[in-house]
Amino acid sequence: MTDTDRELRVSKIRNGTVIDHLTAGQALNVLALLGIDGSGGETVSVGMNVPSDTLATKDIVKVEDRELSQSEVDVLAVISPEATINIIRDYEVIEKQRIERPESVEGVLSCPNRNCITTGDEPIRTRFAVLEEGLRCHYCDEIVRESEITSHLTVT
Ligand code: CTP
Ligand code: ZN
Repeated sequence: MTDTDRELRVSKIRNGTVIDHLTAGQALNVLALLGIDGSGGETVSVGMNVPSDTLATKDIVKVEDRELSQSEVDVLAVISPEATINIIRDYEVIEKQRIERPESVEGVLSCPNRNCITTGDEPIRTRFAVLEEGLRCHYCDEIVRESEITSHLTVT
């Protein structure tokens, strides 16, 4: 048995996305971000608080037959800056996406301000500027703090 075999906790996937080096504790938030609650039938593996080379412990999420949208990657970059995204095709890692803190995030968070134009009847795509103190709604300037992001995800 090689070291790699011994360390492998969730099996390799054939096609899809491995979101690795997640800040421990973020796996369920990442599933929420991706709108995954099991009802859609996706094949998903989750590791929580698993040992890591570079972090003390990490979470890991493997989603088969799915790639992430840029908006999803942008929110991921805010909630788990050390995450790495691996695109898998035919069991091989064909691309490693390093993530960068975005300037704005669009379409994946709802504004907590009930009077905001984005929470009205007309569908308006939400947009938040990413600042040090949190995310600021482009339309009403409401601030969503980083610790509150996951409770404002628009699950699709
Ligand atoms: N992985 C997977 N299924 C595959 C290929 C890779 O689930 N078919 C997972 C690996 O288990 C690992 C991640 O995708 O968690 C990245 O794979 P790889 O680049 O081979 O591993 P490392 O070199 O250890 O990655 P890093 O440098 O990002 O730590
Ligand atoms: Zn707003």
